[in-house]
Amino acid sequence: MTTLYKDFSQVVTLQGAHQKDGRLLTPDDLSIINDGAVIFDDDKILWVGKTKDIPQDITIDTTQSFKGHALLPELVDSHTHCVFGGNRSVEYGMRLNGADYQDIAKAGGGILASMKGTNDLSRKELFELGRERIERILSYGVGTIEIKSGYGLNYEKEKELTEVIDELKKYFAPRVQIFNTFMAAHAVPKDYNDSHAYMQQVVIPLLQELAPRKIIDAVDIFHEEGYFDDADLKFLAEAATALKIPLKTHVDEFTDNKGAKLSAELAALSCDHLLCTEKDGIQALAKSKTVATLLPGTGFFLGKPQANARALLDVGVKVAIGSDYNPGSCNCDNLLLIASIAAPTYKMNLGELWAAITLNAAHALGLTDQGAILPGLKPRFSLFKVNQIEEITYNWGRNYSTSNKSITAR
Ligand code: NIG
Ligand code: FE
Repeated sequence: MTTLYKDFSQVVTLQGAHQKDGRLLTPDDLSIINDGAVIFDDDKILWVGKTKDIPQDITIDTTQSFKGHALLPELVDSHTHCVFGGNRSVEYGMRLNGADYQDIAKAGGGILASMKGTNDLSRKELFELGRERIERILSYGVGTIEIKSGYGLNYEKEKELTEVIDELKKYFAPRVQIFNTFMAAHAVPKDYNDSHAYMQQVVIPLLQELAPRKIIDAVDIFHEEGYFDDADLKFLAEAATALKIPLKTHVDEFTDNKGAKLSAELAALSCDHLLCTEKDGIQALAKSKTVATLLPGTGFFLGKPQANARALLDVGVKVAIGSDYNPGSCNCDNLLLIASIAAPTYKMNLGELWAAITLNAAHALGLTDQGAILPGLKPRFSLFKVNQIEEITYNWGRNYSTSNKSITAR
């Protein structure tokens, strides 16, 4: 079926950003078409241009007019942990009263507290919580969502979490695209001597059991002091490569332990957080295809210094922004609100900002056939009831998305 959407105030194509592989962007790389239109079928975009120039030689089955709306490449949240049980509001209160995230974790709180909350829930309850959270994420205009397992932290519960994410993926397809990341290497439960024992007994064998079912889209690991080390990261990368599964990483969040550099060397799809990454890591990323995913909501919510976004952007690193929605370090599901707050903090221009939550975020999941409105790419869009793109993040905290009300194309 061929569809024409026309009369948009703006179609923000990101053609320039796409041509530059999402690097060293200027505001012009948004490549905005005023009074724009787009023609697409179920699989791909066929044409984009001005409404007055709609070609006559393409047979159109349905037409819709979108006066007063802007059309953008689909928003992608490329980093969430949104399947978990319980909440950590008590820890949040403790932090506001002076405690530190790492000290709380050492005392048995943190990820291990959410492990308990998650193990207390059934598969059905976890699915239902995930479904509700995804519905809310969609309401902001996000259409592709990455979800990590990692709060089960034992063989059976981690398996169940990966299966729950797969069930959510099937439930929401094709309207929403869910990307299933296996992150059993999120923290080391107390019953293991060290991270190496947990990797050997749980993470790697479970990955090898699940991989043939083709339900895992990527693996991830928390590379940090007190969690997983270089040897664990290399072990996981090796096992994943043998299974043809891409690698994503959590690195340099609390210390610069050279996780970004190692991730670039291991050709990870993305390495995320990067609050403490120094020059060598930044240079390594600039020369690599690895996307640097910044999670500004986490620094903000934990009261930590933010990542040095300008240093990354200015040397040509491909930068994405994700929400990191999770019960501990960033209990916020709203990617667009996080991006609004991040832009002036990171001193990003509008081209950099929008590429970070569309094109580069898609590339952080290996989805290189979306992220711009160009012929041949997938027809995955986000729609906002605004006349121009600036209005979306200018009205920070308000929701102008109408994607899930009037657009079914994904
Ligand atoms: O990305 N850094 C590791 N994992 C999560 C935090 C998880 C938690 O505190 O529950 C993150 O910030
Ligand atoms: Fe995370």
